[in-house]
Formats: sequence, C-alpha cells, structure tokens
Amino acid sequence: MASEQEVAAVGKILVNPKQDLTTRFRALFTLRNVGGPEAIEWISQTFVDDSALLKHELAYCLGQMQDERAIPTLETVLKDTTQEPMVRHEAGEALGAIGNLEVLDILKEYSEDPVIEVAETCQLAVRRLEWLTSGGDQNGEEGTDGNPYCSVDPAPPAQRKTVPELRTQLLDESLPLFERYRAMFALRNLGTEEAVLALGDGLQCSSALFRHEIGYVLGQIQHPASIPQLQAALELDGENAMVRHECAEALGSIGKEECMKILERYRKDTERVVKESCEVALDMLEYENGTQFQYADGLLRLQGEQ
Ligand SMILES: [Fe+2]
Ligand SMILES: [Fe+2]
Repeated sequence: MASEQEVAAVGKILVNPKQDLTTRFRALFTLRNVGGPEAIEWISQTFVDDSALLKHELAYCLGQMQDERAIPTLETVLKDTTQEPMVRHEAGEALGAIGNLEVLDILKEYSEDPVIEVAETCQLAVRRLEWLTSGGDQNGEEGTDGNPYCSVDPAPPAQRKTVPELRTQLLDESLPLFERYRAMFALRNLGTEEAVLALGDGLQCSSALFRHEIGYVLGQIQHPASIPQLQAALELDGENAMVRHECAEALGSIGKEECMKILERYRKDTERVVKESCEVALDMLEYENGTQFQYADGLLRLQGEQ
C-alpha cells in the first residue's frame, strides 16, 4: 500500500509540465494502479495541461479504474468544449466504463454533440449502460469469448461466430456502431491471424472513432500480422490524428524491430499527439526490452531518490 505522501509525490510528478512526458505517463499509470481518492484527485488536477495525449490518457485511466468518485471530473471534461475532441471522447467513454446509471442523461445529451467523435462515443456509452441494465454482464454472456486483456471495453463482444461472419458485421456501415464494436471485440478475443487481418480492414471504414478503436484493439492483440495495416494508417496523409496516434501506440506495443524504426520516423511528426505517442511508445519499448523491472515505476523512482 502506498502512503498518502507517496501518492502525493507521484501526483506532483504527474501535474508538473516541466517533467518529461514519458515520466509523467509512468506516474499516471502508477496512480492508476494505486487507486483511491487521492490518486483520482491528482489525475483530475492534470486536465489543465496542454498535452491532449496526456489528458486523454487521464480520462482513459479514470474510466478503467471504475471509481464513481471520478464522475464529476469526467462530466466537466466532457462538457468543456475547449478540451480537444480526443480528450472529451475519452471522458465520455470513461463515464460509460464506470457503469453508473446516473450519467445516462448527460451521455444522452452529448450523443448529439456537434463533434462527431464525441457524439458517437456517447451513443456507444448509452448503449453500454442500457446493456448493463438489462443484466448483460451477469457472469459473462453465453456463447461469447472472454476478454483476455482485463480492459473495460465500450461494448461487450458479439456472440461467437466465424471470422468471415464477424468481419461482415464489423464492416457493415449500415449497422449501429455498437453492433460493429461487438464484432470488433469478438474478433479481438479470438486473436487469430485471420481475426487480426479482418480487424485491420476496419481501418478503411468511414468513422474516425471506429478506426481509432481498431488501432486500440490491434495494440492489445500485439500480432505482427497487423503491422502493414497499422503502418499504412500512420503514414496516410490527412488521416485523423486520433487514429494515427492509436496506430503508433499499437506499433509500439507490438514492439518488433521494424515497429521501432517506423516510430523513430514519426517521432518528429508535425501533429503533436502523433509525435508524443511515438515518444511514449518508444519509452515503453525501452522498458520491455530493457532491464527496468516495472513500467509504472513512479514509486520505485521515488525510493531511488531518497
Ligand atoms: Fe479512445
Ligand atoms: Fe488513445
């Protein structure tokens, strides 16, 4: 257990814009693992930062922690139109992830937001909460494959089907996004090369939110078969920065030599979230390939300084 002083010491690193972004990310993941009201408070205070990448990760972590004490902060961020769409999106998704029905009204309201990524996120979150109310998560749904990644997802997996059937559901733009996400997570849970390639085809779909989520799940699966499609999306001129960011991070989590080379090339990208994603991804790889024992090492680093 971390003491309040230790949490505060890590929190001060997170809020400090003079610290390296990579160090701040490590501090964030430490706070996420520690949890509790003080950790939530430090994370909440950091939404004044000017890195959209960091702020979207704050919201993501608050959602994954599934602590209702984060709801007021997440609502404020969702409502704040001066926050970048990617940050507001992640706040909306996090409100859905926490699973408390009291946020249903605000999510319905922002389902009409003029920023399409925000609107689509809130529509999905409403569907997730409705699914929870209908008892959808009781003992997992029958006939679905479980999530091996321990993430709280914006939609449950679809019923088990063949990969071609799931691929059709994934790519059918006439279906509600929620149904397509269900196919996405079912394919992810399968995790075979065939499933990975079907997911990669989703990078051609019209919704940027959908494409970014494809990048996210490909990063979870870490299958090298997805490298060419991820690379193509990262390199695509005019692709939405949120999508490029997610593809860069996915390449980082796959972590092969060729992925590192690609990330090195985009480390100086003119799009700030892409550039920062490459920096953070390369830092994580350094950890994976190196001798550092723990990535979320904010507490260890403190001890080293004492
Ligand atoms: Fe996201
Ligand atoms: Fe992201």
